[in-house]
Parts: sequence; C-alpha cells; structure tokens
Amino acid sequence: MGRGLAPVALSLVVSLAACEPPPAGRPRSAVATAAASADAAPPAGPALRFLGAAEGQLDVDALAALPGAGVVQAAPPGASAPVAWRGVPLRAALQQGFGAGWRAADELLFTCLDGYQPALPVATALAGAPWLVWARADGAPFRHTLPGHAAPVALGPLYLVWPGTPPKKAQWPYQVTAVETINFSERFAGLVPAADAPAAVRAGFDVWRTHCHKCHRLQGLGGTIGPELGRPVGVLDYWQPAMLRRWLRAPQSIREGSPMPPVALNEAELDTLFAYLRDRSGTPPGQATP
Ligand code: HEC
Repeated sequence: MGRGLAPVALSLVVSLAACEPPPAGRPRSAVATAAASADAAPPAGPALRFLGAAEGQLDVDALAALPGAGVVQAAPPGASAPVAWRGVPLRAALQQGFGAGWRAADELLFTCLDGYQPALPVATALAGAPWLVWARADGAPFRHTLPGHAAPVALGPLYLVWPGTPPKKAQWPYQVTAVETINFSERFAGLVPAADAPAAVRAGFDVWRTHCHKCHRLQGLGGTIGPELGRPVGVLDYWQPAMLRRWLRAPQSIREGSPMPPVALNEAELDTLFAYLRDRSGTPPGQATP
C-alpha cells in the first residue's frame, strides 16, 4: 500500500488503525476504519522476530511445528462468541525464541506494523494462556471488526489472543511482527525519573508507561503512532493543563476526527502524569513561557 510513499496525514491514519486493540466502546474515526480495511493483505516475509535476549525469527511454518500448535478458541474484543484460530501458544514461541530465560524478564515488548508498541508484563502472560495466531481456522479472511470500527481490520502477520477469561492486564495487539524481552526501566532508561524525584513524578511514570508509551514518544523513546510529547518542547509548555485533561478524556471534543482514543484516568492519575510530563520536558531553559 505504499506506506513509505503515502502523504503524512494518510499514513498516520492508516497506521493508527492498524494496531491498537481498543476496549469496547472506544470511538474511532470513520476515516481510520476505511483506511485500515483497504490494508487487508499482511506483508510477506518473516512472521515473528525475536529481539533482546535472543535474536532470530520464526516463520509461520516454523511456528506451526512447535509443541501445542493447532487450533484455539478465543473471543476477541467485539466478538459475541469465540472464534477458532490457527496458531501456537505464546509460551511455546517464546521458549523456542528465547529459551526458558524469557520467564525471568519483566515484560514482553511487542512491535506492530504501525509502530504500536505495547509492553505486556510477563506475569500477565503467565497468568493467562495467550496464543499467537496467524489465520482463522475456518479459512475466512484473517480480519476482525474491533469495537469502534465500522469495517474489519487486518490482523496479520500475528494476533495475540486470549482463550477463556483473560487476566485483567491482557492486551490483544494485532499486526504483531516482533517480540522482545525487556526490563522496562533498563530498555527505556531515559524515561525513568531520578531516584530522588518527588513521589508524584514517580507515580506519573507508571501512568505514562501504562497508558501513553505504547503510542507516544518522550525524548525519542516509545511508540510512534502519536507524536513525540517531550522534545524539543514539553507538551505542557504549549498545551494548557485544563485543555490537556479534556483532551485525554475526549480527544474528539477538541480535535474533530482525531484518531486518538480517550484514556480513562482519574484526577489523581492526571496530576501525577502532568508532574511526570513536566519532569521529562525537554524545553530549553528560558523557553517555558512565551
Ligand atoms: C492508541 C494510541 C494512543 C494512546 C494510547 C495515546 N495517544 Fe495521544 N495521540 C495519539 C495520536 C494518533 C495522536 C495524534 C492525533 C491528533 O493529534 O489528533 C495523539 C495526540 C496526542 C496529543 C496532541 C499532540 C498535539 O499537540 O498535536 C497529546 C497531548 C496526546 N496525544 C497525549 C497523550 C497522553 C498523555 C496519553 C496517555 C495518557 C496518550 N496521548 C495516549 C495516539 C494515542
């Protein structure tokens, strides 16, 4: 689809639609949905790259040959009944790619086609039994209509699904291309507040990494679906705090058609997030006020 050649605005819309698994009811712009459904064909090439503790890749044939691979039933967000998928238990793929050592990592960082980069705690992966799937077992197109989308989105190369009742922090990234074992604070050291930073700043770091990091960068670190928010000028040096609160609650109430989904945070979490954003601001001294 010419990702590299698309005009900036179009590629942003296409890429946002590609990877975020929104909880039920999140609004989604019609433009993003239409763009995503045009992008139905998964790219050729390696299915899953392993990064971090080990480097390598497994294509679908290799994944399908792993122990336990086969068909699994899982109801993705927005589905009223379980769907049968062809795939492999995530654990078997991680075992093959990283050896048993992956269990000692803090988090699994998934990379998706569009730069969406969710970090899944290893404890969550172990609490459930997620599978990486690459096709529907019934041979239907590998697509699904996610909540807030009017049309199906392409799920390939790989989609993370959770059979049964998923654990609370389960995530359903789609268009997954790579997985990396990380210790978040080491991998993204530039995001970690100083040890003696105020408690609010440290709490805000947790809010950031849970709710914003997968889509946004700070100081160049993080997901690439949304814009950088820390440099060269920190976001709170050009957004009024009250407007940013409203933005996070309802982006479309400020920018019509914005593809950013609302983020549910309470007032205390917003306060700490703002303390953290100010702490990480790259605004050069003397430029914070007009
Ligand atoms: C699912 C991805 C996603 C998540 C999660 C997300 N954003 Fe966004 N965000 C976007 C996209 C895409 C845009 C650009 C859309 C736009 O400007 O209308 C954006 C735009 C913004 C902007 C406007 C920037 C500007 O000046 O144009 C701010 C501020 C922002 N996000 C803050 C946040 C914060 C803070 C969080 C976490 C609490 C967050 N976002 C979570 C995708 C996301």
